[in-house]
Amino acid sequence: MFQRARPLSFASYLFKYTTPTSSLRHYSFKVFRDVPPLRKLRRDLLLSKKTVGLVPTMGALHEGHISLIRQAAAENTDVFVSIFVNPTQFGVNEDLSSYPRTWDADIAKLEQLNEELGSAENGRITAILAPTSKVMYPTLPPSSEIDGDGSFVTITPLSKKLEGASRPVFFRGVATVCMKLFNIVTADRVYFGQKDIQQTVVIKRMVKDFHLDTEVRIGPTMREDDGLAMSSRNVYLGVRRRTAGLVLIKALKAAESAYQAGKLSRADILDGAASIARETLAHQQGLSPSERALFEVFYISLADPDTLDEVGTVDPAKGAILSGAIKMAPLEQTNSGEDCGLGDGKVSVRLIDNLILKPLD
Ligand code: PAF
Repeated sequence: MFQRARPLSFASYLFKYTTPTSSLRHYSFKVFRDVPPLRKLRRDLLLSKKTVGLVPTMGALHEGHISLIRQAAAENTDVFVSIFVNPTQFGVNEDLSSYPRTWDADIAKLEQLNEELGSAENGRITAILAPTSKVMYPTLPPSSEIDGDGSFVTITPLSKKLEGASRPVFFRGVATVCMKLFNIVTADRVYFGQKDIQQTVVIKRMVKDFHLDTEVRIGPTMREDDGLAMSSRNVYLGVRRRTAGLVLIKALKAAESAYQAGKLSRADILDGAASIARETLAHQQGLSPSERALFEVFYISLADPDTLDEVGTVDPAKGAILSGAIKMAPLEQTNSGEDCGLGDGKVSVRLIDNLILKPLD
């Protein structure tokens, strides 16, 4: 039976979560658990004038990851995919222990993709990097506390804004693990999804400021048929929360329409989005506990694309990033036979999404 996630110490995490369940052999790609053999492959590829695209993931692969891998295969001869649930980007009270881990299904998806890629004029997945936490963090179990010890990469003030306001260690963990992955793989190109827009801005800044010799490529957000942005955490939603959670993309789309209609001021762009969020929440609150899905809006932001500073007026030559985050609360009461998602509706789920307001001609 599912139990609510309790924070794990880093030591228990090491013990519990670093061993994929299936064998590491007989795939169409090589699976690396350690750095030196992967470096040897990378050196051989370089000497053969091959190009490498790296797609960093935490596993639980969905169509968003697959589309990034396709993009990487179209632009490189060899694709490396990393699968590593990175402990340092989870705060002490966050969902590290309950984060979905689906190694066998992930490997099956990658195998299937490689079969497809094999028949076309493009690159293929050559390597999966699935390191242990000890490989990635050789010196210390690094802390997930904000002022804890460890060798970290911090990109401020970007990391303190938006997602960083409620997840203070998140981007430190992301930047740190990506720096490690970039150093290990030395990819020609690295691939990230627009869905995690702030992450893309932080990574681009890190690559620029540390003179990392790689190109950051951003793939479009992949969406379900109803418009929900794909995310590994969506498995926890279930039907009721998933339907109510569409409020986020609806609100962002209202703001986008206002911009496309020529509005440039913050109020003119965001007021419609705020009304949608308010009205949807009021509607849910009016339903009974067995029917409703309550949520909390963390932010709806209209920000500069490079600095993520909130803007009062959009510079039409630059455009802006519209983004938002909500938390779907656990279901208060569930009905027999209801699809409440993995965890039976008891896990709160943070949803993020964004739309890029392109510069106007
Ligand atoms: O986007 C993710 O899945 C993670 O933040 C990343 C980039 C793989 C780093 O752990």
